[in-house]
Amino acid sequence: KEKVAIASSFSAEDVILIDMACKIAKEKNLQQPRIFTLDTGRLNQETYDVMDKIRKKYDIVIEVYFPDYNEVEDMVKKFGFNLFYESLELRKLCCKIRKVNPLNRVMKTLDAWICGLRKEQSLTRLEVKQIEEEERIIDGIKRKIIKINPLVDWTESEIWKYIKENDVPYNTLYDRGYTSIGCAPCTRLTKKIEDIRAGRWWWEDPDKKECGLHKR
Ligand code: ADX
Ligand code: SF4
Repeated sequence: KEKVAIASSFSAEDVILIDMACKIAKEKNLQQPRIFTLDTGRLNQETYDVMDKIRKKYDIVIEVYFPDYNEVEDMVKKFGFNLFYESLELRKLCCKIRKVNPLNRVMKTLDAWICGLRKEQSLTRLEVKQIEEEERIIDGIKRKIIKINPLVDWTESEIWKYIKENDVPYNTLYDRGYTSIGCAPCTRLTKKIEDIRAGRWWWEDPDKKECGLHKR
């Protein structure tokens, strides 16, 4: 198996990466790129819709990683269904169980991952580089992983130009004014004056809005 994969939440950035990778693979007669998604169990229907559109259009297998059901059950029994609104600690616990732990499971199979981070997305992302080296502790073992962000310098209008010109399927929530899309209970519409990720965990301070997938 390839030891590099695209991490996809099927954001506008991620569908571009998939389109590009599939085209390159076809052109060069390579096997299909590895693409994985972390299904938290709390995504929007529109996200599942675009996942299926992409799966069919490019004829690809999407590796899907779910959270550990014992962890989810314990967490919900203890803290309730909507724990993320109660405190930053509980929100981070939910992100850890539903996203970060599953990510670590994928990471065991990877030397590098490809992500759709862009500088323009938020305050917390101004320093993102095209190629980064990160240290992760997985099962108690420290590992170096390469992270590739091919679209770091792309602007919002470049993103949408590519999508339209190449007829790439995208999450229809963008048509309704969403500018960054995560789990349903933790994403809302952004207003014109707000930054791109303002609708994510909107009740928290801007400098806390990361879920732990991307360390800063
Ligand atoms: S997040 O950390 O706040 O969730 P964001 O939604 O901006 O991040 O996505 C940034 C990048 O992280 C995406 O382009 C994608 O590469 C990766 N990513 C985010 N969420 C997921 C997910 N659920 N599954 C796989 N990759 C993801
Ligand atoms: Fe849980 Fe919200 Fe994090 Fe999704 S974004 S894993 S629902 S806290």
